[in-house]
Amino acid sequence: MGAWIMEETIESKLEEYELINPPEDFVKQANINDPEVYKRAEDNPEKFWEELAEHIDWFEKWKRVLGWEPPHAKWFVGGKLNASYNCIDRHINKRGEKTAILWEGEKGDIRKYTYNELLEATSRFANALKNQGVEKGDIVTIYMPMIPEAVIAMLACARIGAPHSVVFAGFSADALADRINNAESKYVITTDGYYRRGKILEHKNKTDEGISKAETVEKVIVVNHLDNEIEIKPGRDVWWHEIIESADSTCEPEKMDSEDMLFLMYTSGTTGSPKGIVHTTGGYMVGTHVTANWVFDLKEDDIYWCSADVGWITGHSYIVYGPLSNGSTIFMYEGAPDYPDKDRFWEMIEKHKITIFYTAPTAVRAFMKWGSEWPEKHDLSSLRLLGTVGEPINPDPWWWYYKNIGYEKCPIVDTWWQTETGMILITPLPGITPMKPGSPTNPFPGIKASVLDDEGNKIEPGHGGYLAIERPWPSMIRTVYGDEERFINTYWSKWGPDKYMTEDAARLDNDNYFWILGRVDDVINVAGHRLGTMELESALESHPDVVEAAVEGIKDEIKGEAVFGYVILSSGSKEDEKLKQELRDKIVKDIGPIAKPKGIVFTDDLPKTRSGKIMRRILKAITNNKDEGDTSTLQNPEIVDELKRKVKELD
Ligand code: WTA
Repeated sequence: MGAWIMEETIESKLEEYELINPPEDFVKQANINDPEVYKRAEDNPEKFWEELAEHIDWFEKWKRVLGWEPPHAKWFVGGKLNASYNCIDRHINKRGEKTAILWEGEKGDIRKYTYNELLEATSRFANALKNQGVEKGDIVTIYMPMIPEAVIAMLACARIGAPHSVVFAGFSADALADRINNAESKYVITTDGYYRRGKILEHKNKTDEGISKAETVEKVIVVNHLDNEIEIKPGRDVWWHEIIESADSTCEPEKMDSEDMLFLMYTSGTTGSPKGIVHTTGGYMVGTHVTANWVFDLKEDDIYWCSADVGWITGHSYIVYGPLSNGSTIFMYEGAPDYPDKDRFWEMIEKHKITIFYTAPTAVRAFMKWGSEWPEKHDLSSLRLLGTVGEPINPDPWWWYYKNIGYEKCPIVDTWWQTETGMILITPLPGITPMKPGSPTNPFPGIKASVLDDEGNKIEPGHGGYLAIERPWPSMIRTVYGDEERFINTYWSKWGPDKYMTEDAARLDNDNYFWILGRVDDVINVAGHRLGTMELESALESHPDVVEAAVEGIKDEIKGEAVFGYVILSSGSKEDEKLKQELRDKIVKDIGPIAKPKGIVFTDDLPKTRSGKIMRRILKAITNNKDEGDTSTLQNPEIVDELKRKVKELD
């Protein structure tokens, strides 16, 4: 553990004694307000989860709650269910006419689906998929912006037992190709285009470019979202609206095994290409259903808005499966938060009387920077609960959010979790837990989280260590798609196969509250999005002028972290702005606009050990102008000051 982590520890310590009780009126009406629930879960975690599994509809009950052969877990063994049935069909009698999806386009157009309509749309599209040849077990790639069809496509896949792999629409064509190839996906669902800040993004072109580098694709289904001219490849491309016309409007949901794959979600890790995190059906549905209900306190008349994109795990668990399995009304928005103006979010919250709002700290920091005059223009009194996810929220933005958006009457749930965990694992329960700005507080009932050292010993409060999860939980990662070895090496080898390594550093305070200190692997968290240094470096290195590149995270006021690159050029290449721009464009093209470097420095050398390995800890310190600590193992210690100077010059 580097000096870096310890320093962070001291920064966060200042705030640790500030305890804010959940508002009394909220507590009285909360779904869960008896702390006894923690004890009950701890006494018998399996029994606890078994009772909660009753909140899901099963075609056949499980025979065993948990089969645990570390690191392989099977939950609700032998149970049969369907995720789309749980999100739609089971609500039809009670709330068929209730709005399931309320959608607003960037231009202000509104679309609504009741649960009855969602059932019909999903069933039709599920049948259309079958007619196109999709079979149970086929992985379907969904590359779509925030439109209702993205959710319908996911649910339709779940209905027929075809795991989906949703690729964030903002990702590049190359990123799409990598993911299609890894999953050997034959089917892609996409759109003609979508709006972002008033401009049309030509999404179909990008899809075509990606598919040109992916050999497995046979069929592409295209939603006509904008009615703009696009090229349709005969035999390969079909229109969504055409194939649903002839499809039957009822579709029997497949009886899926509890451990059948529900979806794949790619995420960045330390080395190599992004890994496909595999989630299965039974445990995932139980985990997301219960956490959505308890953490967001979902009630029948809530209008719930999670502003994440469906292309991330947050969108999967807390736009789609968690809230819809609770029969909630979910709000979705197509576009940018500052279009046409910086009060767009607040305007929509007022207009639709949104009651629960879940967003990322990076968004809160941007809102804070834009100023409180924007929310002040609107009546936000419909809100009753706020949430954050994706990165630590510093106390300042926390207070800003609490006062200016929540009017000091809404609890804030700061939720810690990961693509791999599938569900929220560390969080306040809003009717129970006193909050501390900056801390996600305590593990969810039944979850055993701890802070460990390299040997697996518990670290005492006040000191940084690795965040570990020491007991299986229902929605945990089952494997890395096609790479079991990577699954074991990444998550289950640091301390043996029964302790999950989160790759986060954390510490406890004297009240046993958790403080997350950041990633310990080579992942940069840009505005809550995980980017692997390896992927970024190979993007730079594939430029003909680049000999070697190293990438680090640099602190950023709004995004938390941003990408910062160090580049060694081949002799004869010119170190100029034009080349820097080319390198920026290269990263945007290979990965996506979120990865655009904040700065690039040309250099002749990088801080390396005698064996030639880049010392990340030192490069990170250089990038962020921190004390680099011990440099005695470097073969070229003089490079430290030189790079520090160059980084400073860029400011
Ligand atoms: C970070 C997003 C601090 C953490 C759901 C984790 C957080 C990574 C929090 C997972 C939080 C997420 N406080 N850090 N409340 N939530 N993180 O897979 O480093 O995109 O490992 O999942 O985000 O990112 P992922």
